[in-house]
Amino acid sequence: MSVSMKGKDIISLHDLSREEIEQIVDLGAMMKLRRKAGEEQQLLKGKTLGMIFTKTSTRTRVSFEVGMEQLGGHALYLGANDLQLKLGETIADTARVLSRYLDGIMIRTFAHKDVTDLAEYASIPVINGLTDLLHPCQILADLLTIKEKKGQLDGLKLAYVGDGNNVCHSLMFGTSKVGIDMAIATPEGYEPNQDITKLANEDAKASGATIEIGNDPFVAVDGADIIYTDTWASMGQEAEHAKRVKVMKPFQVNAKLVKAAKKDCLFLHCLPAHRGEEVTDEVADGPHSVIFDEAENRLHAQKAILALVM
Ligand code: CP
Ligand code: NVA
Repeated sequence: MSVSMKGKDIISLHDLSREEIEQIVDLGAMMKLRRKAGEEQQLLKGKTLGMIFTKTSTRTRVSFEVGMEQLGGHALYLGANDLQLKLGETIADTARVLSRYLDGIMIRTFAHKDVTDLAEYASIPVINGLTDLLHPCQILADLLTIKEKKGQLDGLKLAYVGDGNNVCHSLMFGTSKVGIDMAIATPEGYEPNQDITKLANEDAKASGATIEIGNDPFVAVDGADIIYTDTWASMGQEAEHAKRVKVMKPFQVNAKLVKAAKKDCLFLHCLPAHRGEEVTDEVADGPHSVIFDEAENRLHAQKAILALVM
């Protein structure tokens, strides 16, 4: 049975029910098959998505824009430097005005509160395309990738190794909602945010999943079906890059670490990868890696999101 998500904001996976998350994943899988079979998918004919970017992007920008096009709609790129926001127009007024022209807004920015404020004042759905705190659309594509490769979500174990960042936070919500056990290994001082951890633990309790947080990558990957990593210095942390590389070096996903997980484990990375830092070429291009299918699935999962909320 489908759950109506029309008009819903997609800001944090914590705000979505398990049914809603599974619906996006399953619809994404179906839309992928149908697209490959050459079927027309004009579900959003005449609709426009505005895409506000304060940070750079390859995958998010292109997949949302192409996704709207494939759904018969249109996407409008709004670089934050070109908007009156830059000269001090408030987020509330921007939200009210954009709601008169558009049918949905996707935003990628630094402060998470800017996205929740935008959603509060917009009368159209707001989709979080990454903040310093969360990256929900990435994790919906990741869940689609995992289900496609493993045939299930519930009961698997995912090991996240590296920085306890926005991607790690959204993974904590996503896995705990759908019943995937998550083991996290970060250097001391780089653990995930405590408020997020508390909320994710509540979600895990409801689904029967577990979240373990520690500082040993080999403990985390033991028995893992999926190994996941992300950059050691996220957008906005460029000045800390050298320091982070030094601290995180023992957390590199390399052949030795992959060997310590299950034989048939998958390697996922949201990309962009910093080859030679958080992951070696051998792993990124090796037999366990599904990173480019994962990148492709951004398109399919987001088409499902757009079709459901718009
Ligand atoms: N994974 C991801 O969000 O990629 P971009 O930064 O290229 O959008
Ligand atoms: N953690 C990374 C993800 C990039 C898609 C960042 O925020 O830069």
